[in-house]
Amino acid sequence: MCGIVGYTGSKEAYPIIIKGLKRLEYRGYDSTGVALQNGRLKVYKKKGKVAELEDSLVGKNLHAHVGIGHTRWATHGEPNDRNAHPHSSASGKLAMIHNGIIENYAQLKQELIRKGYSFKSDTDTEVLLNFIEDIKTNNECSLEEAVRIALKRVVGAYVILLLDESMPDTIIAARKGSPLVIGIGKGEHFLGSDASPMLEYTKEVVYVNDYELAIIRPDELILKNLGNEKITPYVQKLDLELAAIEKGGYDHFMLKEIFEQPQTIYDCLRGRLDANAGTITMSGIQKYAEQIMNATRIIMVACGTSWHAGLVAEYIFEELCRINVEVEYASEFRYRNPVINPGDVIIAISQSGETADTLVAIETAKAKGAIILGVVNVVGSSIARVSHAGAYTHAGPEIGVASTKAFTAQLAVLTMIALKIAHDKGTISKERYMHLLNELNEVPEKVTRVLELSDHIKKLAEKYKDATDALYLGRGFNFPVALEGALKLKEISYIHAEGYPAAEMKHGPIALVDEKLPVIFVATKDSYHEKVVSNMQEIKARKGKLIAVITEGDDTTAAICNDVMAIPEADEVIAPILSAIPMQLLAYYIGVAKGYDVDKPRNLAKSVTVE
Ligand code: F6R
Repeated sequence: MCGIVGYTGSKEAYPIIIKGLKRLEYRGYDSTGVALQNGRLKVYKKKGKVAELEDSLVGKNLHAHVGIGHTRWATHGEPNDRNAHPHSSASGKLAMIHNGIIENYAQLKQELIRKGYSFKSDTDTEVLLNFIEDIKTNNECSLEEAVRIALKRVVGAYVILLLDESMPDTIIAARKGSPLVIGIGKGEHFLGSDASPMLEYTKEVVYVNDYELAIIRPDELILKNLGNEKITPYVQKLDLELAAIEKGGYDHFMLKEIFEQPQTIYDCLRGRLDANAGTITMSGIQKYAEQIMNATRIIMVACGTSWHAGLVAEYIFEELCRINVEVEYASEFRYRNPVINPGDVIIAISQSGETADTLVAIETAKAKGAIILGVVNVVGSSIARVSHAGAYTHAGPEIGVASTKAFTAQLAVLTMIALKIAHDKGTISKERYMHLLNELNEVPEKVTRVLELSDHIKKLAEKYKDATDALYLGRGFNFPVALEGALKLKEISYIHAEGYPAAEMKHGPIALVDEKLPVIFVATKDSYHEKVVSNMQEIKARKGKLIAVITEGDDTTAAICNDVMAIPEADEVIAPILSAIPMQLLAYYIGVAKGYDVDKPRNLAKSVTVE
């Protein structure tokens, strides 16, 4: 995680860097810093968010045409001024920012201590920086050469940007395992963890690959591998507008992103789903369609909310395609030496496309011969590039740290893939296939109707905001939606919440139920409905507060609840896309009612690029 920004050109570097850091704060926000190069290196850094650093620098002479900046999500060393980036080398002549983890930093640190180095921070970054400086001094070589030598010894993941006082217009950058984008302007270059810091200046970008090193000056971009061979930069055109990363009148990105869902789901279906013709076209998976269709097993690999999308997909794929599906936490999958058989297909689900656990998991599976299908939101991201085939979710930039529109877009894409396989395999009847295509087609309009619940849910949030715990329950297709509802509530409102299969609740969690506990059921009309209602009765009998997402017109279920959120009727395969949205709104409004920074909840970061 962590956000990094760099600039070299003729403009003032500081405002570009600060603005860029604000856009990258979703990646981490516990401390911030900038290093400016103006004949001498000046480093300013501070615990806290970007705005706090900015306030502390008012009135300072920040004039410089070259600089780097960092917004941190702490890994090594608590968030404080000392551990904030940039770090300065022992001589004070180098400054560096880093996103990632140097796993063998302790060993490198011992070597440096034996040579007489001491350290101002607890970070792995300062160790790497001094390791680089030590190589530079001892070998009397260029910084570029020293970086290359150092990185051959480094175990871990990194994007590093370095400034050297003796190279006033140059930034040296290198990447392995964390993202780095270079924007190409006229006589200037921009660097960022993603393209957002450079959007208003250029649409031409280069995505740096692992084990590449870049030497960047205003008029020059040299890309090399660690063997010192030059690589021709592959310049791509950005398909992203500034408006997409701004709040557009909403109080928070999270609310904006929740309200964007009719459009994002429409964008996701557009050009793929033709309900009249009865076709689903997914060009990104066409080349591997045969293998996917004939897969003996599909393994969904993901983390967090994306893992919940995988769980919903498990129900859908098994129901429609009759393929055995397993859903794996990427972090567990990777470390347990998984059995991969010929014919296994991995579906990696990720909003950011940079989640380290997911990335490493699919690299492991790929090395064992699996076919990797990426369901990814960020175009050009690492997971998208590592995958054999894939389908973008086209939800646009998701900036609120809690995932919302990416989740529903993931469900839409996974449903389309399942329908396509089922159709091609012949495991679905023509009528059901056409019915589900029509249902999917109607989702954007139904989501608009779900969003009309916003004011009602805001009132519910006021009513339940002081709860200390909450239980989220659902069955079948809606069980993962309950898990997602609980995750949203805990990350945004810091209320302890648990998601559970509704029936499983009686095997333990029911002990928690008393008259103070809100129990949120996802209880739309589906084949599990009667059973879910029985579980609701069990909660009611123990005086729990019953709140439920129900289907419009279901007065019988409404009658046993304290409060309901009624959503339009939908087939059970499609319903999770709709039932997830009241969960998002409830968490959002409770977080706001409690006065929390819902876009940047404590301890979290948007893109988790550490394992
Ligand atoms: C929760 C949330 C996280 C992410 C998880 C995976 O709201 O956003 O749980 O879903 O970190 O991230 P991606 O999807 O980027 O791989």
